[in-house]
Amino acid sequence: MRDTYIVGNWKMNQSLSSINEFFTEIQTLKLSTNVHGWIAPQAMHLSTCINLGAKLGIKIGSQTCSEFDDGAYTGELSCSSLKDLGVHFTLVGHSERRTIFDESHKVLNEKTKKALTNDLICIFCVGETLEQREADQTFKVVEEQIIQGLKDCTQDNILIAYEPVWAIGTGKTATPEQANEVHGFIRNLVQEKLGWDGEKQIILYGGSVKPANIAELLSCEHIDGGLVGGASLKSSDFKQLTEASQS
Ligand code: PGA
Repeated sequence: MRDTYIVGNWKMNQSLSSINEFFTEIQTLKLSTNVHGWIAPQAMHLSTCINLGAKLGIKIGSQTCSEFDDGAYTGELSCSSLKDLGVHFTLVGHSERRTIFDESHKVLNEKTKKALTNDLICIFCVGETLEQREADQTFKVVEEQIIQGLKDCTQDNILIAYEPVWAIGTGKTATPEQANEVHGFIRNLVQEKLGWDGEKQIILYGGSVKPANIAELLSCEHIDGGLVGGASLKSSDFKQLTEASQS
């Protein structure tokens, strides 16, 4: 039986005061041992969130990390400093990083390796655009993202998030069947092509996850949790999402 993960991706949102309110409002949250509630705030709020989250068992992560160790890379976040701060995980390859910031398979592979070397858990994100889905390329795109992005990586400390780009922030969720089909494909892929233990692999779904659809998504065989943008910003929704995961 795999554990369940609800991971909030706050993107470039939340202020110091809204973060304080958020954590005050979820003070009664109780996570069971097999349900993990994680949040990725903006980098300048990592420390605050680590302190506030610790009391509730909420682990905090970064939205990206640098592929370099340290040095003259203005604006970047080194994995060793993230680890020092008490950061638990990092997202790598979110579709916004791939498209807006042009992060290539090669760079994402380097980031993943750097995160793992520094003992950070890596949530590696993949997913197709609407155009690619309509052209029947979903499996091909996801396969390429995984094979190239996770090349020479070991399974330990890697979670995979399947986030169809057309479902992110659009209100359009993949149907549980659509999501489960790709998750099953990924499970098989990591087993066959990377030599990992497919049964053990945690695979999260992302794309307009909300309290109203989480139970159905989690009832699918291959879906182990959600990577949640918009709905994770509201304390009541985040609480409901984690509660739904415990039932
Ligand atoms: P969304 O974002 O839940 O707002 O669709 C998900 C994500 O980008 O991780």
